[in-house]
Amino acid sequence: MSDALISVEQGVEYLNQDGVIGMPTETVYGLAARIDRPLAIQKIFTTKERPFFDPLIVHVSSKSQAQKLTTDWNSAAEVLANAFWPGPLTMVLSKASHVDPLITSGLQSVGIRMPRHPIALALMTAVNCPLAAPSANLFGRTSPTQAVHVLREFQNKVPVIDGGPSDVGIESTVLHVQESAQGIQLSLLRPGFISIDEIAQVLQENKIPFLISEVVQKSLAPGQMKHHYMPDIPLFWVENDQLSNEQILIIVQQQLKDLPSEVEGVKLRKPHQTFEKSAELILPNDPALAARRLYSLLRELSQTGADHIIYRHHSSQTGGLWDGILDRLKKASHLVLS
Ligand code: TXA
Ligand code: MG
Repeated sequence: MSDALISVEQGVEYLNQDGVIGMPTETVYGLAARIDRPLAIQKIFTTKERPFFDPLIVHVSSKSQAQKLTTDWNSAAEVLANAFWPGPLTMVLSKASHVDPLITSGLQSVGIRMPRHPIALALMTAVNCPLAAPSANLFGRTSPTQAVHVLREFQNKVPVIDGGPSDVGIESTVLHVQESAQGIQLSLLRPGFISIDEIAQVLQENKIPFLISEVVQKSLAPGQMKHHYMPDIPLFWVENDQLSNEQILIIVQQQLKDLPSEVEGVKLRKPHQTFEKSAELILPNDPALAARRLYSLLRELSQTGADHIIYRHHSSQTGGLWDGILDRLKKASHLVLS
C-alpha cells in the first residue's frame, strides 16, 4: 500500500477497492473502511491489532443513512441527532440485520455517529456508504490527532487524508440509547466532549422522558478496558502534590514489580530499566484546549529522550469536559499514585 498523503478522490478509490484509509474527524483520526466490504472490515482489526470483541463505530454523512442502520430510531435518537450531529456524539442503538456482526462484535447494537469534519463528510458523501472507523492507532495506544501520527503509527502502510489537527482532540461521547416501557434508558459508555448534562438538558427541553443508568453493564460496553491510550513511554499519574520526583520514582519502582505485562489484551510494555529522565505533562487550564492538545503532548513527550512521563493531577482540573480528559489519562497511565 501507499506511503502517502492522499486526496479525497484517491481515498474513495482505496475504499472502493477494499482498502482502509486514515480519515480526519473533529475528534481523532479514524481508520476507515466501507461497512459493506467484509474484507476491508477485517483489515481494520488486523491493522490495529484489535481484538474482535471490541466493536467499531459506524460513521454516516446523513440522518437517513443512520436510520437505515438501526431498528430503533426512537424519539431520543431523533432529538439528540438534531441537537449534536454532525458532532462528537456516538449513539449505540439496536442494529439492523444487514449490519455485519464483525462490525458490532456480535452485539445486537451498533454505534453510530455523524462526524463534523468537512473532509470526513465529503468523503462519505462521495463513497455513498457509511464507513466503519475506530481511532487510527494500534490497540491500546494513544489516539492520533494529526495525519502524521497515523502515518507513523502504521509505518506509512496506511494512506491518509490530511485534514489538519483534530479540533476536539478526544474521542466522541458514546451513549447507549434504548427504548423501554419506562421510557428511554440512557447509559454513558464513554465520556467525551458532549457531557451527559448537556444530553439530559436537550431531552428535557424536548419533553422526552428518560432514565440514566448509573451502572454500566459490562455486556453493553465490551470495549471498556482498564488500560488504553498508552504512550510509548510509561506515564505515571500522581495525585499527591507533596511528593517530589525522587519520591515518586522510588514508589514507582516498587509498584511496577507487581504490574502484569498485559491487562485485558493491552500490552503494558513493562520497563525493566530504572527511570532517570522524566518529562512532565502539563495541561492547559482551559479544558477544551487541554483535550485538543492531550494526545499530541503525550506523543511529543515520548520523543524527548525522557524515559517516563509524570502527570501531577490538580483538583481544579475536574468536572465537565475534564471528566473525558481524565478518563483517557487514567487509562493511559501505567500507575496511579495517590
Ligand atoms: O471519536 C470517535 O468516536 C472516534 C472517531 C474516529 O470517530 N472513533 C473511536 O473509535 O474512538 P474506537 O473504536 O477507538 O472507540 C469506539 C468505542 C469503543 O470503546 C467501542 O467498544 C464502543 O465505542 N462501541 C462501538 N460500538 C459499540 C456497541 N455496539 N456497543 C457498545 N460499545 C460500542
Ligand atoms: Mg480508540
